[in-house]
Amino acid sequence: MSRTKRHPDPITQSSPSSVAAEAYHTIRTNIQFRTEANHGQVILVTSAAAGEGRTTTTCNLAVTLSQSGLKVLVVDADMRNPDIHNRLHVNNDVGLSSVLSSSQESPRCIIPTDIPHLQVLPGGHKPENPSPLLAMDQFDGFISQVRQEFDVVLLDSPPLLTTSDALVIARLADGVVFVVDAQRTSRIVAQKALAQLKEMDVHIIGGILNRVPKHARKYPIGATLTNQQVTSSWNL
Ligand SMILES: Nc1ncnc2c1ncn2[C@@H]1O[C@H](COP(=O)(O)OP(=O)(O)OP(=O)(O)O)[C@@H](O)[C@H]1O
Ligand SMILES: [Mg+2]
Repeated sequence: MSRTKRHPDPITQSSPSSVAAEAYHTIRTNIQFRTEANHGQVILVTSAAAGEGRTTTTCNLAVTLSQSGLKVLVVDADMRNPDIHNRLHVNNDVGLSSVLSSSQESPRCIIPTDIPHLQVLPGGHKPENPSPLLAMDQFDGFISQVRQEFDVVLLDSPPLLTTSDALVIARLADGVVFVVDAQRTSRIVAQKALAQLKEMDVHIIGGILNRVPKHARKYPIGATLTNQQVTSSWNL
C-alpha cells in the first residue's frame, strides 16, 4: 500500500500560543477590524519570488482568522503550483480551475476542513495557461459570490515577478498581505514587487517577514519594505 507523507498542520493550528503563531496576530487584528466595517473582505497573499512562504502564510492566517470566529474561505489561486490542499488536507480533484472552466459550480468545489469556520477551494487540475482564466468574468463573478458568503476570502497566488497572475487577482482584492523571506528576498527584489502593487493602487494591509533567524527577531527590514505594519514569522 502506498503512503503519501502528510504535510504538518499549520503552526497556528498545532501550537496556537507559540511565538510563531503570535506573529500572525497583528495582521489578523487588522483584517478583523476591516471585516467589522465590511464583511466579505478579499485578501491576496503574495510575494516577489517563488518559495518565500506565501502558502504557509495563507494557511496560518486562515487558521488564526477562523479561530477568532470569522467564516473564512481559502482559495488556491496559484493554479500553476497548487499546494493549499496539501497543507489543509483536502482533495484536489476539483477546484478553482474547474470553476473557471465552467465544468463545476463553485459551491460543489468548496470543501470544509477539520478547522471550524474554515473552508477551502483548492486549485484543481493545472490549466495550461491560468492568466486568461483569472481575467475572465467568471472569476469576478465567483469573487462577488463568495464575498457575500464569507467574512474573509484569502487568496494564495503565484509570485509577482514571475507571472501576471497576482496582479490580475489584485484588481479584485480589498488588500494585500506581502510576504518577504528574511533570508532570501533581497531588498531590491521586494521593492520591485511592491512597486507593481503600488502602480495598481492596491492597499497593502501588512507584511509577513518569514524565516527570520532567531538571533535577528527585531530585524527592521520588513517595516522599511512595506511602510505598513509588518510582523515577523519564523520557525514553522
Ligand atoms: N518559516 C519557515 N520555517 C521553515 N520552513 C518554512 C517556513 N516558511 C515556509 N517554509 C517551508 O518552505 C517551503 C516553501 O514555503 P511555501 O510553500 O509556503 O512558499 P510559497 O511561496 O508558497 O512557495 P511556492 O512558490 O512553491 O508556491 C515549504 O516547504 C514550507 O513548508
Ligand atoms: Mg505556494
